[in-house]
Amino acid sequence: MSYQNILSDVKENILYITINRESKLNALNKETLTELADVIAFASKSAEVRGVLLTGAGEKAFVAGADISEFSAYNTAQGESLARNGQVNVFDAIENSTKPFVAAINGFALGGGLELAMACHIRVAADTAKMGLPEVTLGLIPGYGGTQRLTRLVGKGRAIEMITTADMITADRAEKIGLVNHVVPLIELIGKAEEILNKIKQRAPLAIAAAIKSVNSAVNEDVNGFEVEIEEFGKCFGTQDFKEGVGAFLEKRKADFKGR
Ligand code: COA
Repeated sequence: MSYQNILSDVKENILYITINRESKLNALNKETLTELADVIAFASKSAEVRGVLLTGAGEKAFVAGADISEFSAYNTAQGESLARNGQVNVFDAIENSTKPFVAAINGFALGGGLELAMACHIRVAADTAKMGLPEVTLGLIPGYGGTQRLTRLVGKGRAIEMITTADMITADRAEKIGLVNHVVPLIELIGKAEEILNKIKQRAPLAIAAAIKSVNSAVNEDVNGFEVEIEEFGKCFGTQDFKEGVGAFLEKRKADFKGR
């Protein structure tokens, strides 16, 4: 796969996606979002991909937000469709992917950048990273799910404070409030994300997909998460991966899962 604004490469069952607009601090313009939507769809379809590592090019920014220069003349309807298309094709698509996404936050994660990281299933941040939702400084609010996902991750009081003050927080603070899972020195960032994905990729892929779907259901008011868990649990028993996992345990050997 060859793109203009992102780099993508599958190595040892991990899909590496790097947002590659370093001179614009990896801001998400239309083309970047289109390319992201394409590579996210590929991740879900590809049996080779067992997990995704998402990061930004360079040492300064993960993603410094949506590309402000593109929407400066938008009206109400255009604004709404920008948010809807982005949410459906990129942000929700990541959250609902059958593959686990780990965000490696290598610098500024602002606005749409923090929203992108929050759509991922796991977040690892460099100790130099800064995070925030500064949209109200532009007369906007977060539009790629930020008001919802930040509230779910850190609670209403902290979310309202971060969004209404537009203050950036440090990686250490983000870890303290549950916004990121781990903070490491920048040089160890990709290694830490790989360590997590290397563990996950040895587990049963269909069970990983079922786990993501079930956990997502815990924060989806339209479905009964307990019912989803019951159904997904049941479906696991119909997989070859289940037979392989149980067989390997009983035979005292390492399981070799095929994702079937
Ligand atoms: N959209 C479009 N371009 C952006 C951008 C964004 N969200 N964030 C940064 N850029 C561009 C700058 O315009 C600049 O481009 P130029 O060199 O062609 O002028 C380049 O990236 C470097 O950014 P710059 O502002 O010069 O870097 P800095 O170190 O002075 O400041 C930030 C870094 C992150 C504090 C600052 O870029 C910023 O506030 N960005 C916007 C963050 C934001 O509001 N995001 C939410 C958008 S909804």
